[in-house]
Amino acid sequence: MTDLVLTEQQGHVLVVRINRPDRKNALTHAMYTALGDAVEQAHENAAIRCVLFTGSEECFTAGNDLSDFAAGLPGAFEETPVGRFLFLLATATKPAVAAVNGPAVGIGTTLLLHCDMVFAGNNTRFQMPFANLGLCPEGGSSLLLPSWLGRVRAAELLMLGGAFTADDAYRLGLINRICEPADTEATALDTCQKLAAQAPAALRATKELLNRPTLEELKTTMLVEGKKFSERLKSPEAAEAFKAFMEKRTPDFSKFD
Ligand code: COA
Repeated sequence: MTDLVLTEQQGHVLVVRINRPDRKNALTHAMYTALGDAVEQAHENAAIRCVLFTGSEECFTAGNDLSDFAAGLPGAFEETPVGRFLFLLATATKPAVAAVNGPAVGIGTTLLLHCDMVFAGNNTRFQMPFANLGLCPEGGSSLLLPSWLGRVRAAELLMLGGAFTADDAYRLGLINRICEPADTEATALDTCQKLAAQAPAALRATKELLNRPTLEELKTTMLVEGKKFSERLKSPEAAEAFKAFMEKRTPDFSKFD
């Protein structure tokens, strides 16, 4: 149990809130377990018809907790808390919506690829700095981003790993709407209530059909990414990048080949 991920049922919507402001909502293994449990809870409870992922007005999440992840991932990726959460989310049958503000880093961006609708505050800074950390893409992003955005745009986001704005994300087709940060959650919740009022089996069928063309390939990709991500976590490049983060300096990759 952790109070760093809060769940609350609002009508037929399960609101899942990442709540670790002093660490920019960085996600630990225990928090991934709680996120996975929330997705399972939504699946099992007939009263829940939609899930809303959110953080605060200031921050969605800074992604993986780098202190936690520096120790590596135990066992097969799909059995780790992060792997379990990603697989549950990618194969979920009920609509999932996200309301994001501020930093949406790493999995803070890639988990959005598995949400049906995304609302972002105009203060959102998306970023997938996997290569910058000596890591590699996760969450199915190496499959979904090239097919949605085109190969060169996906490569730019994943290889340079720079931050991009809500305007950029809207232009790229990654989000539905840009909001004032104070309104993002309410706007998303309003949409969740509309989804919850729709015919549930029709929505499940719609979601299944939207996911079907890439689902099997997505699962395979997530396994391959997860294996490589686990390997990369143990690499000297990642060790240098994580050390640099803790020391608040730019990593020096010049000695690696
Ligand atoms: N893991 C662990 N701790 C983190 C963290 C993370 N992913 N992101 C932030 N923190 C910690 C910081 O170390 C800092 O701790 P301190 O107060 O002890 O120095 C605290 O949270 C606040 O973060 P700070 O960097 O001061 O906030 P900021 O507003 O200047 O920047 C970010 C916010 C998100 C841009 C910046 O924290 C960042 O780049 N974080 C790392 C993101 C990342 O690489 N995630 C992994 C993706 S796989």
